[in-house]
Amino acid sequence: MSSRITLALNPAFRVAPVRRRTFGAFVEHLGRCVYSGIFEPGHPSADEDGFRTDVLALTRELGVSSVRYPGGNFVSGYKWEDGVGPVEQRPARHDLAWHSTEPNTVGLDEFMAWVAKAGVEPMYAVNLGTRGIEETLDVLQYANAPEGIALSDERAANGHAAPYGISMWCLGNEMDGPWQTGHKTPEEYARVATEAARAMRQEDPGLELVACGSSNTSMETFGAWENAVLTEAYDHVDMISAHAYYSEQDGDQASFLASADDMDYYIDSVVATADHVRAKLKRDKRIMVSFDEWNIWYQHRAESRPPSGEDWPIAPVLLEDTYSAMDAVVFGNLLISLLRHSDRVASASLAQLVNVIAPIMTEPGGASWKQTTFHPFALTSRHAAGEVLDVRLDAPTFENRRFGTSSAADAVATWDEGSGALSLFVVNRGADEQLDLDADLSAFGDLELVEAVTLHHEDPYAANTNDAPETVTPAANDSITLAGDRLTGDLPAISWSMIRLARRA
Ligand code: AHR
Repeated sequence: MSSRITLALNPAFRVAPVRRRTFGAFVEHLGRCVYSGIFEPGHPSADEDGFRTDVLALTRELGVSSVRYPGGNFVSGYKWEDGVGPVEQRPARHDLAWHSTEPNTVGLDEFMAWVAKAGVEPMYAVNLGTRGIEETLDVLQYANAPEGIALSDERAANGHAAPYGISMWCLGNEMDGPWQTGHKTPEEYARVATEAARAMRQEDPGLELVACGSSNTSMETFGAWENAVLTEAYDHVDMISAHAYYSEQDGDQASFLASADDMDYYIDSVVATADHVRAKLKRDKRIMVSFDEWNIWYQHRAESRPPSGEDWPIAPVLLEDTYSAMDAVVFGNLLISLLRHSDRVASASLAQLVNVIAPIMTEPGGASWKQTTFHPFALTSRHAAGEVLDVRLDAPTFENRRFGTSSAADAVATWDEGSGALSLFVVNRGADEQLDLDADLSAFGDLELVEAVTLHHEDPYAANTNDAPETVTPAANDSITLAGDRLTGDLPAISWSMIRLARRA
């Protein structure tokens, strides 16, 4: 059984330039993301600083542009100064967010060393849960001030004379969530975020500041929170955050496959709210979205249950979800949504990078491997270039409990006028039938097909494991052909595809 989908593509359907920051990720002191994730002295691949070079290589292959750190929920109880100075003098502390013990072996200086090796940009989150303006200024001065004041001299004494020049700063994390240490009402958060931002800008007017938005679209305060926070903080911040995690729940596969509908709705709603505040305050500047946590996460599974009682382990196995072929298709679709909104999504962070709901998995002392989700991220990051183009689709629809009626296909394209490279990212998110792709590419001139790959598995629940890391990988899709200006081919049910074309020399 199959149905036809028609794609209308044109270089005039320009959204915005592709932003490298769309391809950010996230490293939190949570479970094994840091310890035995990026950092494992004694591992056969560890370098002189204790970083796993196998993980560094996979991070580069993934095409990560920026990395948010150190949390997450963790940051709302974190004392940044515990993580600097001689390692043997650093205190261990209880991390209330994940009921774990934080040894503080890795802190800001180690993270910045890792960032340099990975070739990524740092994004640093400050603690506005248990702490406030003073500690925010302290960590900012430690990180960014030139030598000559107490905290920058401390940094130099710790072996890092040159300022780090961290540009992107998150003003707390998920402060709307009752689970957050130091959770706040919109008014309380708006106050402290505005004052922290004002002080940070007195220190360095060039910083790029992200206010906390809602933790997801189901929060009771969604919309009202963004309105209250931006009404007060508008002049002092550049971005407002969005976080979203999706999973198949109660066997409702159809709603899960349509998850990107929620991401579209989320971004459109936050943009509308930000622009409402802009109109109300009569400002010129536009607030952008920092989608600084997004992924598939099976939150209700045992893997996500933190330790309890007297058990406060260091780096426990937590949130180690194993991703299926279907998860990778939904994940690829979320990236399509983020790219499509490049006019207003200025930054995004896949949560997280290693072991914790991650595209990269490691065995302590052993191997590292790629989850299914690694592939759509790496390919999109590598081949999205130039301008993002909106794609108009004529596709069948499917019914689902969460969104009602959803399109069976979704797509976005990028067009690099200079090099003549056209990349099309397309999902068939219907569970039942193959889609017959049909696209007229005449608006792009004389093109040739470079490559067509599809991620699909007969069993949508098939996954990659340490023992079988190649179970689900993208494979050449030989059905895709270009005859004259007409691109045609088959997109199997529950699949993600990338089709690359280039101007004929
Ligand atoms: O990424 C896992 C957790 O999800 C983060 O710590 C928190 O910010 C969010 O709720």
